[in-house]
Amino acid sequence: MEKPADTQFPIHDLLARRWSPRAFAERSVETEKIERLLEAARWASSCFNEQPWVFLIATNDQPAAHNSLLSCLVEGNQVWAKRAPLLMITVAKLHFDHNGHTNRHAIHDVGLAVGNLVVQATTMDLVIHQMAGILPEQIRESYSLLLGYEPVTALAIGYPGDLTTLPEEFREREQASRSRKTLQEFVFSKTWGQNPKFL
Ligand SMILES: Cc1cc2nc3c(=O)[nH]c(=O)nc-3n(C[C@H](O)[C@H](O)[C@H](O)COP(=O)(O)O)c2cc1C
Repeated sequence: MEKPADTQFPIHDLLARRWSPRAFAERSVETEKIERLLEAARWASSCFNEQPWVFLIATNDQPAAHNSLLSCLVEGNQVWAKRAPLLMITVAKLHFDHNGHTNRHAIHDVGLAVGNLVVQATTMDLVIHQMAGILPEQIRESYSLLLGYEPVTALAIGYPGDLTTLPEEFREREQASRSRKTLQEFVFSKTWGQNPKFL
């Protein structure tokens, strides 16, 4: 299924095509594609080039590891994410290496790395569903997280699947139209709430 963005202005096809399905095909994600996803994340920019991201990953060819990562998601996400052949958890390092101070932009930078990964995935016809619905304490325990690291999100990754594989409750949401705020709602100039002339 495709759900291209209905844009106010033209954008790159890769960005318009990306969306967050919950239905995944059984097909595994090839190792070279996993490498390319992570390489894309690796080349994201970050504050002081500290690269404050860690990716915990599991593939369905290792069912114990896949189940273990799955159990770090809230139940409402587990029900559909279990079919995703590739699961990841993103983790942020909250302090700078270079001076030990708090890195206020660590989570921002994890988001940038995920942004790269998502675009790379789209170029390879993979789909990604990001999740805030994770169990941080379970992640800490399962993966022996060091102090100063914070679980941020999980990612369900795979090839797009058939709607019928989804539990009933998710089928309607899968087909719902995508919406966004207008640019006028969040682009301001001169003072808060005032749009630039070109809008
Ligand atoms: C940081 C983040 C957390 C999210 N958490 C969840 C989640 O826990 N469960 C879920 O089903 N979708 C989750 N989503 C998916 C969003 O609901 C989805 O991206 C949003 O509705 C926009 O739809 P689109 O990605 O198809 O454009 C999350 C997305 C992001 C970026």
